[in-house]
Amino acid sequence: MSDQKSSLLGLIIRQRNPNNLETPMDRIDSFLTPTELFYIRSHFSTPRVDPSSYRLQVDGAVKSPFALAYDELRSLPSESRVVTLECAGNSRVFLVPQVDGAQWELGAVGNAEWTGVPLAALLERAGLEDDACEIVLEGADRGTPKEPPIPPGTITYARSIPRDKATRQDVLIAYQINGRNLPRDHGYPVRAVVPGHYGMASVKWLTRIRAVREPFRGYWQTSDYGYWDDLDGQPIRRPLGEMQVKSEIMRPSVYETLAPNTRYTITGAAWSGETGVTEIAVSTDAGQSWAQADFIDPARRHSWRRWKFDWLTPQGPGHYTLLSRAKDASGSVQSDQHDPRYGSYVINHPLPIEVFVDDGSTVSA
Ligand code: MTE
Repeated sequence: MSDQKSSLLGLIIRQRNPNNLETPMDRIDSFLTPTELFYIRSHFSTPRVDPSSYRLQVDGAVKSPFALAYDELRSLPSESRVVTLECAGNSRVFLVPQVDGAQWELGAVGNAEWTGVPLAALLERAGLEDDACEIVLEGADRGTPKEPPIPPGTITYARSIPRDKATRQDVLIAYQINGRNLPRDHGYPVRAVVPGHYGMASVKWLTRIRAVREPFRGYWQTSDYGYWDDLDGQPIRRPLGEMQVKSEIMRPSVYETLAPNTRYTITGAAWSGETGVTEIAVSTDAGQSWAQADFIDPARRHSWRRWKFDWLTPQGPGHYTLLSRAKDASGSVQSDQHDPRYGSYVINHPLPIEVFVDDGSTVSA
Protein backbone atom coordinates (compact mmCIF):
# COMPACT_ATOMS: atom_id res chain seq x y z
CA MET A 1 0.00 0.00 0.00
CA SER A 2 1.31 3.43 -0.87
CA ASP A 3 1.77 5.88 2.00
CA GLN A 4 1.73 8.78 -0.42
CA LYS A 5 -0.82 11.41 0.53
CA SER A 6 -2.94 12.48 -2.36
CA SER A 7 -5.12 15.51 -2.84
CA LEU A 8 -7.83 15.79 -5.42
CA LEU A 9 -7.80 19.53 -5.43
CA GLY A 10 -5.37 22.13 -6.65
CA LEU A 11 -5.08 25.57 -8.17
CA ILE A 12 -5.35 26.59 -11.83
CA ILE A 13 -2.13 28.04 -13.24
CA ARG A 14 -2.44 31.42 -14.92
CA GLN A 15 1.28 32.17 -14.70
CA ARG A 16 4.36 30.64 -13.03
CA ASN A 17 7.05 32.83 -11.47
CA PRO A 18 5.62 35.21 -10.64
CA ASN A 19 3.02 32.84 -9.24
CA ASN A 20 -0.52 33.62 -10.31
CA LEU A 21 -2.81 30.73 -9.53
CA GLU A 22 -6.56 30.67 -9.45
CA THR A 23 -9.08 28.96 -7.17
CA PRO A 24 -11.30 26.37 -8.92
CA MET A 25 -14.54 28.01 -7.74
CA ASP A 26 -16.75 25.08 -8.72
CA ARG A 27 -14.90 23.01 -6.10
CA ILE A 28 -15.52 25.40 -3.20
CA ASP A 29 -18.48 24.69 -0.97
CA SER A 30 -17.23 25.96 2.37
CA PHE A 31 -17.67 29.43 3.90
CA LEU A 32 -13.90 29.71 4.34
CA THR A 33 -11.76 28.98 1.31
CA PRO A 34 -9.35 26.17 2.28
CA THR A 35 -5.86 27.71 2.44
CA GLU A 36 -4.42 25.37 -0.20
CA LEU A 37 -7.16 26.53 -2.60
CA PHE A 38 -6.82 30.25 -1.90
CA TYR A 39 -5.80 32.12 -5.06
CA ILE A 40 -2.25 33.48 -5.36
CA ARG A 41 -1.52 36.80 -7.04
CA SER A 42 2.12 37.95 -7.05
CA HIS A 43 3.91 40.50 -9.23
CA PHE A 44 7.47 39.32 -8.59
CA SER A 45 9.18 36.05 -7.59
CA THR A 46 8.14 34.89 -4.14
CA PRO A 47 10.79 36.23 -1.74
CA ARG A 48 12.31 34.11 1.03
CA VAL A 49 11.96 36.06 4.27
CA ASP A 50 13.72 34.51 7.28
CA PRO A 51 11.58 34.99 10.41
CA SER A 52 14.67 34.92 12.66
CA SER A 53 16.13 38.05 11.03
CA TYR A 54 12.76 39.60 10.10
CA ARG A 55 12.13 43.22 11.13
CA LEU A 56 8.97 45.22 10.60
CA GLN A 57 9.89 48.91 10.41
CA VAL A 58 7.27 51.48 11.48
CA ASP A 59 8.48 54.95 10.57
CA GLY A 60 7.97 58.10 8.46
CA ALA A 61 5.70 60.86 9.77
CA VAL A 62 5.53 59.41 13.29
CA LYS A 63 6.79 60.65 16.66
CA SER A 64 8.45 57.39 17.77
CA PRO A 65 9.61 55.11 14.94
CA PHE A 66 10.31 51.50 15.96
CA ALA A 67 11.04 48.07 14.55
CA LEU A 68 9.54 44.75 15.59
CA ALA A 69 11.01 41.26 15.33
CA TYR A 70 8.69 38.42 14.24
CA ASP A 71 8.38 37.02 17.79
CA GLU A 72 7.70 40.48 19.20
CA LEU A 73 4.87 41.01 16.70
CA ARG A 74 3.41 37.61 17.60
CA SER A 75 3.52 38.42 21.31
CA LEU A 76 1.29 41.49 20.90
CA PRO A 77 -2.51 41.27 21.45
CA SER A 78 -3.99 39.76 18.29
CA GLU A 79 -7.37 39.55 16.61
CA SER A 80 -8.91 37.21 14.03
CA ARG A 81 -11.22 38.38 11.27
CA VAL A 82 -12.97 36.74 8.35
CA VAL A 83 -12.16 38.80 5.28
CA THR A 84 -12.85 38.33 1.57
CA LEU A 85 -9.93 39.24 -0.69
CA GLU A 86 -10.68 39.81 -4.35
CA CYS A 87 -8.04 40.75 -6.90
CA ALA A 88 -9.13 43.86 -8.81
CA GLY A 89 -8.53 41.94 -12.06
CA ASN A 90 -10.73 38.98 -11.09
CA SER A 91 -13.05 37.86 -13.96
CA ARG A 92 -10.96 39.70 -16.58
CA VAL A 93 -11.54 36.83 -19.01
CA PHE A 94 -15.17 37.95 -19.25
CA LEU A 95 -14.18 41.25 -20.91
CA VAL A 96 -14.86 41.23 -24.66
CA PRO A 97 -12.74 42.07 -26.62
CA GLN A 98 -9.97 40.47 -24.60
CA VAL A 99 -7.66 42.77 -22.62
CA ASP A 100 -4.05 42.31 -21.47
CA GLY A 101 -3.26 40.88 -18.05
CA ALA A 102 -3.70 37.55 -16.29
CA GLN A 103 -6.84 35.92 -17.66
CA TRP A 104 -8.60 35.32 -14.35
CA GLU A 105 -11.95 33.57 -14.53
CA LEU A 106 -13.99 33.48 -11.32
CA GLY A 107 -11.34 32.38 -8.86
CA ALA A 108 -9.16 35.39 -7.98
CA VAL A 109 -11.26 35.74 -4.84
CA GLY A 110 -11.32 33.94 -1.51
CA ASN A 111 -12.70 34.17 1.99
CA ALA A 112 -10.43 33.35 4.94
CA GLU A 113 -9.92 33.93 8.63
CA TRP A 114 -6.84 36.06 9.19
CA THR A 115 -5.05 36.51 12.52
CA GLY A 116 -2.68 39.31 13.44
CA VAL A 117 -2.14 42.62 15.17
CA PRO A 118 -4.41 45.57 14.30
CA LEU A 119 -2.44 48.13 12.28
CA ALA A 120 -4.12 50.80 14.42
CA ALA A 121 -2.29 49.51 17.52
CA LEU A 122 1.12 49.80 15.82
CA LEU A 123 0.33 53.31 14.55
CA GLU A 124 -0.83 54.35 18.01
CA ARG A 125 2.46 53.15 19.49
CA ALA A 126 4.42 55.09 16.83
CA GLY A 127 2.28 58.24 17.31
CA LEU A 128 1.15 59.54 13.91
CA GLU A 129 2.09 63.14 13.17
CA ASP A 130 -0.96 65.39 12.63
CA ASP A 131 -0.17 65.90 8.95
CA ALA A 132 0.34 62.21 8.10
CA CYS A 133 -2.30 61.54 5.42
CA GLU A 134 -1.56 57.99 4.23
CA ILE A 135 0.21 54.84 5.36
CA VAL A 136 2.49 53.15 2.81
CA LEU A 137 2.80 49.38 3.15
CA GLU A 138 5.96 47.96 1.57
CA GLY A 139 6.80 44.34 0.74
CA ALA A 140 10.12 42.50 0.52
CA ASP A 141 9.56 41.40 -3.09
CA ARG A 142 11.47 43.30 -5.74
CA GLY A 143 11.70 43.44 -9.52
CA THR A 144 10.84 45.37 -12.66
CA PRO A 145 7.16 45.57 -13.62
CA LYS A 146 6.33 44.27 -17.10
CA GLU A 147 3.55 46.71 -17.96
CA PRO A 148 4.57 50.10 -19.37
CA PRO A 149 5.37 52.77 -18.38
CA ILE A 150 8.24 50.77 -16.88
CA PRO A 151 9.97 52.54 -13.99
CA PRO A 152 13.80 52.74 -13.93
CA GLY A 153 15.63 50.02 -11.97
CA THR A 154 13.99 47.53 -9.68
CA ILE A 155 11.24 48.49 -7.28
CA THR A 156 9.53 46.85 -4.33
CA TYR A 157 5.79 46.23 -4.18
CA ALA A 158 4.17 49.08 -2.23
CA ARG A 159 0.66 50.46 -1.78
CA SER A 160 -0.79 53.10 0.50
CA ILE A 161 -4.07 53.29 2.39
CA PRO A 162 -5.74 56.47 3.64
CA ARG A 163 -5.09 57.45 7.27
CA ASP A 164 -8.71 57.01 8.35
CA LYS A 165 -8.82 53.45 6.98
CA ALA A 166 -5.44 52.60 8.56
CA THR A 167 -6.43 53.85 12.01
CA ARG A 168 -9.74 51.98 12.12
CA GLN A 169 -9.65 48.66 13.96
CA ASP A 170 -10.17 46.60 10.79
CA VAL A 171 -6.75 46.46 9.09
CA LEU A 172 -4.62 43.55 10.31
CA ILE A 173 -0.90 42.94 10.21
CA ALA A 174 -1.46 39.22 9.84
CA TYR A 175 0.72 36.17 10.37
CA GLN A 176 -1.93 33.45 10.12
CA ILE A 177 -4.56 32.34 7.62
CA ASN A 178 -7.26 29.89 8.73
CA GLY A 179 -5.42 29.22 11.99
CA ARG A 180 -2.01 28.32 10.48
CA ASN A 181 1.09 30.34 9.63
CA LEU A 182 0.85 32.08 6.26
CA PRO A 183 2.22 29.93 3.41
CA ARG A 184 5.11 31.56 1.53
CA ASP A 185 3.01 32.48 -1.50
CA HIS A 186 0.53 34.27 0.76
CA GLY A 187 3.15 36.49 2.40
CA TYR A 188 5.04 34.47 5.05
CA PRO A 189 5.95 35.58 7.63
CA VAL A 190 3.80 38.76 7.77
CA ARG A 191 1.32 40.51 5.49
CA ALA A 192 -1.31 43.24 5.65
CA VAL A 193 -5.00 42.38 5.30
CA VAL A 194 -7.08 45.42 4.33
CA PRO A 195 -10.76 44.42 4.61
CA GLY A 196 -13.14 45.97 2.08
CA HIS A 197 -10.39 46.98 -0.36
CA TYR A 198 -9.31 45.12 -3.49
CA GLY A 199 -6.55 42.60 -2.83
CA MET A 200 -3.72 44.84 -4.09
CA ALA A 201 -3.87 46.79 -0.78
CA SER A 202 -3.13 43.70 1.31
CA VAL A 203 0.65 43.85 0.93
CA LYS A 204 2.44 40.51 1.40
CA TRP A 205 5.95 39.95 2.88
CA LEU A 206 5.40 43.25 4.71
CA THR A 207 8.64 44.81 5.97
CA ARG A 208 7.82 48.48 6.31
CA ILE A 209 4.88 50.62 7.44
CA ARG A 210 5.62 54.24 6.56
CA ALA A 211 3.42 57.26 7.35
CA VAL A 212 3.64 59.94 4.63
CA ARG A 213 2.62 63.59 4.44
CA GLU A 214 1.71 63.61 0.74
CA PRO A 215 -0.48 61.17 -1.16
CA PHE A 216 1.71 58.27 -2.27
CA ARG A 217 2.16 58.17 -6.07
CA GLY A 218 3.97 54.81 -6.42
CA TYR A 219 3.74 52.51 -9.42
CA TRP A 220 0.93 50.31 -8.07
CA GLN A 221 -0.98 53.36 -6.93
CA THR A 222 -1.06 55.24 -10.23
CA SER A 223 0.22 53.33 -13.29
CA ASP A 224 -1.24 50.05 -12.16
CA TYR A 225 -4.32 49.54 -9.98
CA GLY A 226 -5.62 52.99 -10.87
CA TYR A 227 -8.69 54.21 -12.76
CA TRP A 228 -9.82 57.30 -14.62
CA ASP A 229 -11.85 59.83 -12.71
CA ASP A 230 -13.07 63.22 -13.88
CA LEU A 231 -11.94 66.50 -12.30
CA ASP A 232 -13.68 69.55 -13.78
CA GLY A 233 -13.82 67.94 -17.21
CA GLN A 234 -10.24 66.59 -17.06
CA PRO A 235 -9.54 62.86 -16.78
CA ILE A 236 -7.26 62.14 -13.80
CA ARG A 237 -5.83 58.91 -12.38
CA ARG A 238 -6.95 57.80 -8.95
CA PRO A 239 -5.94 54.69 -7.03
CA LEU A 240 -8.41 51.82 -6.81
CA GLY A 241 -9.61 51.24 -3.26
CA GLU A 242 -12.87 49.85 -1.95
CA MET A 243 -14.31 46.72 -3.57
CA GLN A 244 -17.56 47.13 -5.48
CA VAL A 245 -20.56 44.92 -4.91
CA LYS A 246 -20.27 41.66 -6.86
CA SER A 247 -21.68 38.16 -7.08
CA GLU A 248 -20.52 35.05 -8.86
CA ILE A 249 -22.09 31.77 -9.85
CA MET A 250 -19.81 29.00 -8.57
CA ARG A 251 -21.91 26.07 -9.85
CA PRO A 252 -22.73 25.15 -12.59
CA SER A 253 -19.56 25.86 -14.58
CA VAL A 254 -19.40 27.48 -18.01
CA TYR A 255 -20.69 25.08 -20.72
CA GLU A 256 -21.76 22.46 -18.17
CA THR A 257 -24.54 20.19 -19.44
CA LEU A 258 -27.51 19.80 -17.08
CA ALA A 259 -30.33 17.25 -17.21
CA PRO A 260 -33.72 18.58 -18.41
CA ASN A 261 -36.74 18.96 -16.12
CA THR A 262 -34.63 18.46 -13.00
CA ARG A 263 -34.09 20.52 -9.88
CA TYR A 264 -30.55 21.91 -10.06
CA THR A 265 -29.23 24.07 -7.20
CA ILE A 266 -27.28 27.00 -8.60
CA THR A 267 -24.77 28.18 -5.98
CA GLY A 268 -22.56 31.21 -5.68
CA ALA A 269 -21.13 33.91 -3.44
CA ALA A 270 -21.62 37.67 -3.13
CA TRP A 271 -19.58 40.36 -1.42
CA SER A 272 -19.07 44.10 -1.28
CA GLY A 273 -16.58 46.63 0.10
CA GLU A 274 -17.29 48.28 3.42
CA THR A 275 -20.90 47.08 3.72
CA GLY A 276 -22.59 43.68 3.65
CA VAL A 277 -24.60 42.21 0.80
CA THR A 278 -28.35 42.36 1.42
CA GLU A 279 -30.02 40.98 -1.74
CA ILE A 280 -29.24 38.41 -4.39
CA ALA A 281 -31.16 37.67 -7.58
CA VAL A 282 -30.65 35.08 -10.33
CA SER A 283 -31.66 35.05 -13.99
CA THR A 284 -31.80 31.86 -16.07
CA ASP A 285 -32.81 33.65 -19.28
CA ALA A 286 -29.89 36.02 -19.92
CA GLY A 287 -31.35 38.81 -17.81
CA GLN A 288 -34.90 39.01 -19.17
CA SER A 289 -36.36 38.01 -15.81
CA TRP A 290 -34.91 37.81 -12.30
CA ALA A 291 -35.89 35.80 -9.21
CA GLN A 292 -34.71 36.15 -5.65
CA ALA A 293 -32.13 33.61 -4.44
CA ASP A 294 -31.49 32.54 -0.81
CA PHE A 295 -28.46 33.37 1.26
CA ILE A 296 -26.67 30.47 2.94
CA ASP A 297 -24.52 32.64 5.24
CA PRO A 298 -25.63 35.54 7.44
CA ALA A 299 -24.70 39.12 6.49
CA ARG A 300 -21.23 39.90 7.75
CA ARG A 301 -19.26 43.00 6.87
CA HIS A 302 -16.05 42.31 4.91
CA SER A 303 -16.93 38.67 4.28
CA TRP A 304 -18.70 36.97 1.39
CA ARG A 305 -22.15 35.37 1.67
CA ARG A 306 -22.76 32.16 -0.16
CA TRP A 307 -26.19 31.81 -1.77
CA LYS A 308 -28.29 29.23 -3.61
CA PHE A 309 -31.14 29.10 -6.08
CA ASP A 310 -33.19 26.03 -7.00
CA TRP A 311 -33.72 25.95 -10.75
CA LEU A 312 -36.16 23.56 -12.36
CA THR A 313 -34.34 23.09 -15.64
CA PRO A 314 -36.40 23.39 -18.85
CA GLN A 315 -37.95 20.30 -20.44
CA GLY A 316 -36.38 20.70 -23.85
CA PRO A 317 -32.73 20.80 -24.83
CA GLY A 318 -31.26 24.26 -25.18
CA HIS A 319 -28.60 26.78 -24.36
CA TYR A 320 -29.20 29.04 -21.35
CA THR A 321 -27.35 32.01 -19.89
CA LEU A 322 -27.33 32.23 -16.09
CA LEU A 323 -26.62 35.50 -14.30
CA SER A 324 -26.56 36.68 -10.68
CA ARG A 325 -26.92 40.20 -9.34
CA ALA A 326 -26.30 41.44 -5.79
CA LYS A 327 -27.24 44.58 -3.86
CA ASP A 328 -25.40 45.84 -0.78
CA ALA A 329 -26.47 47.66 2.39
CA SER A 330 -25.55 51.04 0.88
CA GLY A 331 -28.09 50.40 -1.95
CA SER A 332 -25.46 49.76 -4.65
CA VAL A 333 -26.42 47.13 -7.23
CA GLN A 334 -24.11 45.43 -9.74
CA SER A 335 -24.36 47.49 -12.92
CA ASP A 336 -25.28 45.81 -16.22
CA GLN A 337 -22.01 46.61 -17.97
CA HIS A 338 -18.35 46.89 -17.08
CA ASP A 339 -17.40 50.53 -16.50
CA PRO A 340 -14.60 51.31 -19.03
CA ARG A 341 -13.06 53.93 -16.69
CA TYR A 342 -11.68 50.98 -14.75
CA GLY A 343 -9.81 49.53 -17.74
CA SER A 344 -9.07 45.88 -17.05
CA TYR A 345 -10.11 46.12 -13.38
CA VAL A 346 -13.32 46.12 -11.30
CA ILE A 347 -15.16 43.54 -13.40
CA ASN A 348 -18.32 43.43 -11.31
CA HIS A 349 -21.14 43.32 -13.83
CA PRO A 350 -23.29 40.14 -13.79
CA LEU A 351 -21.05 37.47 -15.35
CA PRO A 352 -22.75 35.20 -17.92
CA ILE A 353 -22.50 31.48 -17.19
CA GLU A 354 -23.67 29.68 -20.32
CA VAL A 355 -24.95 26.14 -19.84
CA PHE A 356 -26.60 23.44 -21.91
CA VAL A 357 -29.70 21.52 -20.99
CA ASP A 358 -29.63 18.15 -22.68
CA ASP A 359 -30.65 14.60 -21.79
CA GLY A 360 -27.84 13.15 -23.89
CA SER A 361 -30.12 12.08 -26.76
CA THR A 362 -29.21 15.11 -28.90
CA VAL A 363 -26.82 13.94 -31.61
CA SER A 364 -24.13 16.49 -32.38
CA ALA A 365 -22.72 16.62 -35.90
N1 MTE B 1 2.05 42.11 -1.94
C1 MTE B 1 3.27 42.04 -2.46
N2 MTE B 1 4.33 42.32 -1.66
N3 MTE B 1 3.47 41.71 -3.76
C2 MTE B 1 2.42 41.44 -4.61
O1 MTE B 1 2.62 41.14 -5.78
N4 MTE B 1 -0.02 41.29 -4.83
C3 MTE B 1 -1.23 41.94 -4.34
C4 MTE B 1 -1.46 41.66 -2.86
N5 MTE B 1 -0.24 41.89 -2.12
C5 MTE B 1 1.10 41.52 -4.07
C6 MTE B 1 0.97 41.84 -2.70
C7 MTE B 1 -2.42 41.55 -5.06
S1 MTE B 1 -2.64 42.28 -6.58
C8 MTE B 1 -3.37 40.73 -4.51
S2 MTE B 1 -4.84 40.45 -5.30
C9 MTE B 1 -3.16 40.06 -3.22
O2 MTE B 1 -1.87 40.33 -2.70
C10 MTE B 1 -3.29 38.57 -3.36
O3 MTE B 1 -3.03 37.92 -2.15
P1 MTE B 1 -2.85 36.33 -2.17
O4 MTE B 1 -1.79 35.98 -3.17
O5 MTE B 1 -2.52 35.91 -0.78
O6 MTE B 1 -4.19 35.78 -2.59
